[in-house]
Amino acid sequence: MASAPEKSKIPRHVALIMDGNGRWARSRKMLRAMGHREGVESVREIVRVGSEVGVEFLTLYAFSVENWQRPAAEVATLMRFLESFLKNEVPELHRNNVRLHAIGRLNDLPKRVQAQLHKSIEATKENTGLTLILALSYGGRVEIVEAVRSLIREVQEGRLDAAQIDENAFSHHLYTRYYPDPDLLIRTSGEMRLSNFLLWQLSYTEIYVTKTLWPDFRRAEFLAALADYAGRQRRFGKV
Ligand code: IPE
Ligand code: IPE
Ligand code: MG
Repeated sequence: MASAPEKSKIPRHVALIMDGNGRWARSRKMLRAMGHREGVESVREIVRVGSEVGVEFLTLYAFSVENWQRPAAEVATLMRFLESFLKNEVPELHRNNVRLHAIGRLNDLPKRVQAQLHKSIEATKENTGLTLILALSYGGRVEIVEAVRSLIREVQEGRLDAAQIDENAFSHHLYTRYYPDPDLLIRTSGEMRLSNFLLWQLSYTEIYVTKTLWPDFRRAEFLAALADYAGRQRRFGKV
């Protein structure tokens, strides 16, 4: 079995666009819901492997603001899987010393999901290993707009001098203020687009796109992405 690159070459923060559940199901003549169900298994495995190899932050794009426009039955299925994942996964998160966080317009989620989310976050808050960040009802543009509103409020209330707004101050008003920017972005299913994910934070992130559909993205595929990243030369605009 392939092994992980040496620790110094492991990205601190991996962001992942989990795409292709529907196509995975369709290719098996199954309902899209079956693809989402199998996708949950991939989440489990990727969190486990990420913890094992020493990734510190793993941000999973699980539901976008645009995904609310899918048929109501599919949205309901996704919310049901999300709720049961949040509920059933806590022992496994503890076993892996994983702390759960979430970013996005969390108030848009059904009340039951919100309640379970906060419960699982609370239950895992003392864990000191990998931080698993679920992006739920997440949109990169709305995140930026909300940051602008919050900065304006602080200026209006006299708590911030507009002249002091710089990139660092701005970053501190994003949902992701507690985390470093992602080092590696992985997108499954071959689509070459960001789909409104972490627009500000990905400015110097290494991108890895694989044709593998999310339900098939498991240990070997993740290690292949990490090996690819380990061979990259990051220049940040310098020579
Ligand atoms: C990813 O799979 C899951 C979510 C976006 C919630 P899709 O449901 O987008 O699957 P495809 O892209 O239609 O195959
Ligand atoms: C991106 O996948 C959102 C998530 C993975 C949650 P989509 O399937 O929604 O994106 P598009 O429609 O292909 O851009
Ligand atoms: Mg998709």
